[in-house]
Amino acid sequence: MSALREWIDRRFPLTEFIEKHITTYPTPKNLNYWWNFGSLAGVFLVVQILTGIWLTMYYKPDTNLAFDSVQHIMRNVNYGWLIRSLHAIGPTGFFFAVYLHIARGLYYGSYKSPRELIWWIGLAIYLSLMAEAFMGYLLPWGQMSYWGATVVTDFFSAIPFIGADFVVWLRGDFAVGDPTLGRFFSLHTTLIPLGVIGGLVVMHLTALHRVGSSNPAGIDLDKHGPAVITFAPSYITKDLWFISLFFTLYLYVVFFQPDFFLEPINSEPANALVTPADIVPEWYFLPFYAILRSIPQKLGWVVAMFGSILILAFLPYLDRSPVRSSRYRPVKKVLTWLFFLDVLFLGYVGLQPPGTMPLLGRAATSYYFLYFLLLPLIPAVEKVRPLPQEDEI
Ligand code: HEM
Repeated sequence: MSALREWIDRRFPLTEFIEKHITTYPTPKNLNYWWNFGSLAGVFLVVQILTGIWLTMYYKPDTNLAFDSVQHIMRNVNYGWLIRSLHAIGPTGFFFAVYLHIARGLYYGSYKSPRELIWWIGLAIYLSLMAEAFMGYLLPWGQMSYWGATVVTDFFSAIPFIGADFVVWLRGDFAVGDPTLGRFFSLHTTLIPLGVIGGLVVMHLTALHRVGSSNPAGIDLDKHGPAVITFAPSYITKDLWFISLFFTLYLYVVFFQPDFFLEPINSEPANALVTPADIVPEWYFLPFYAILRSIPQKLGWVVAMFGSILILAFLPYLDRSPVRSSRYRPVKKVLTWLFFLDVLFLGYVGLQPPGTMPLLGRAATSYYFLYFLLLPLIPAVEKVRPLPQEDEI
């Protein structure tokens, strides 16, 4: 084995790569469980790609065949039900991991220098993930697939002057139809997962390994100091333990509650002549749906919805405090917890039928944006707690 290793190492830096990026990679010894969500998200990406490759062997991207091909996978293909359920429920686990990963970044100030690029690449991954989930949802060609795609592509008609033409260009037709299904299938299975998300994740980790992980205390650590250990074996085992724990929950849903996160109306084939009573997005889009609905004007919807994500990109400049971690920032800590509750509440509002709780929805949308406007003002009023020394953590 070692002869083979040597043969490869003379031609390709395999051992060097493994040592530098895995086994002896320097990692703060005080990382808590919030630092496990990045690797969990990575594992979900792999699960989605592998199960997706397998599904494409049987799926038919044609409006006359798509719905039945998914039924065929569920009923006739050996273990088709398992692969399809893993793939359909995977996004729930994936988005859950990514949301907690982002929340960790917000709370512990991971977006601050020198990790701005990791943060921005992360946001690009998040936007691509939303596009990926949205396009994948059309593929089973059920009622919610069709009407969800119709409503969301129609948002773009709000763009001044070119809106109407842009929507036709996007759909490839005047209504969502065969050309839309074909292009969504192509993008969902090739460019976005393998090219965009895959490529961005490699860049995300490359940028991370240039500067190293931050830590819950938020202080800069000396690579060779007492608070830094190697990634193996502690963090390999911790990641594996955490992923196994989370996968127990995921597989429980896959095996025992496979319909829990799936929309029942999507078990009916798409019908352009029957609009469902409620067109509700998947849970991971609900807060943005609530933000959109709290704005009365169509162009305002689109600006508010995209703005609510893009504003995250300005965090490294909006948050001027020299202290990273909210542990030592009493005011930011409270406002950030309120922000998390606000996002959960927006999700709840998004789930209600249109027109319910309009004022509370608008108040929650206002706090969402207010949080970012308050951030630059906090250092003027905040009395930060003393930070620990490197040998105290
Ligand atoms: C497919 C999605 C993603 C994957 C696979 C991924 C993977 C990872 C991994 C493995 C780490 C190191 C471990 C950790 O800190 O948890 C990390 C760190 C980080 N990620 Fe992500 N990530 C993803 C999405 C995002 C998103 C959406 C954001 C933010 C908008 C983000 C921002 C960050 C930041 C700032 C760090 C450094 C954190 C620190 O050390 O304090 N990531 N990511």
